[in-house]
Amino acid sequence: MSFPDNYQPATDLLNDKAILVTGAGDGIGRVAAKTFAAHGATVILLGRTLGKLEKVYDEIEAAGGPQPAIYPMNLEGAAEKDYNDMCDTLEQEFGKLDGILHNASILGPRTPIGNYPADSWLQVMQINVNAPFMLTRALLPLLERSNNASLLFTGSSVGLEGRAHWGAYAASKAALENLMQTLADELADATRIRANSVNPGATRTRMRAAAYPAEDPGSIKPPEALMPLYLYLMGDDSLEETGRQFKG
Ligand SMILES: NC(=O)c1ccc[n+]([C@@H]2O[C@H](COP(=O)([O-])OP(=O)(O)OC[C@H]3O[C@@H](n4cnc5c(N)ncnc54)[C@H](OP(=O)(O)O)[C@@H]3O)[C@@H](O)[C@H]2O)c1
Repeated sequence: MSFPDNYQPATDLLNDKAILVTGAGDGIGRVAAKTFAAHGATVILLGRTLGKLEKVYDEIEAAGGPQPAIYPMNLEGAAEKDYNDMCDTLEQEFGKLDGILHNASILGPRTPIGNYPADSWLQVMQINVNAPFMLTRALLPLLERSNNASLLFTGSSVGLEGRAHWGAYAASKAALENLMQTLADELADATRIRANSVNPGATRTRMRAAAYPAEDPGSIKPPEALMPLYLYLMGDDSLEETGRQFKG
């Protein structure tokens, strides 16, 4: 089944699934974490600002969702050992992992390449593409223990075609699409892990406001509008989908 326009996710779509959401404290990640929990998932909230993660945790508990877990981590400084430690912790806690929403990213400077600071380039690449690579690699053994696992990467229009002044952000999103395709191809035959990407399109968040300060936030869709697609891709209705790019 391909994503239907009128997709109606079952309320128990994600029951018994453990799903990791990066950048779960704000924007699209925050709404996705709460939505996954509302559909039965045990959500692991990863982010760099503990206070924001705690707020999402409280909101999930207040709404009666399965008790989530908080995993504070700054993806900029995380090293191989941190990801391996994370794998050990999640293995002890949950025994398996059914999905990762790779959502955390930073915009970086909106500057022509001629002026683009090298340290900013490296920072954006570290958070937006190196971290998802290391996180995925470390957690593959746990994903393999799931009946059906979903890897969902977050792309962007500028990752499909570069555009002036989008610098490392655009390059990082292009690399992420390619990583998704490589994983989908490698995992297709040997595992029950699928990998897809979603390009949210213009969505009302802090990042969007930073990229388009003159825009009226009220004129663009809220993160909630993306949730049917995110649920479809995280749940078992999308078992046939892998290696595909979806548009929100
Ligand atoms: N909004 C749009 O219009 C749009 C369009 C296309 C693609 N996207 C993509 O959609 C995804 C979500 O974007 P958004 O608009 O929701 O952005 P956002 O509101 O800025 O949220 C980004 C989240 O990532 C977290 N994060 C950033 N750096 C991190 C780090 N070093 N370690 C751990 N967490 C980190 C942030 O944590 P803090 O809250 O602690 O800062 C925040 O929770 C991103 O991948 C973005 O590229 C968004």
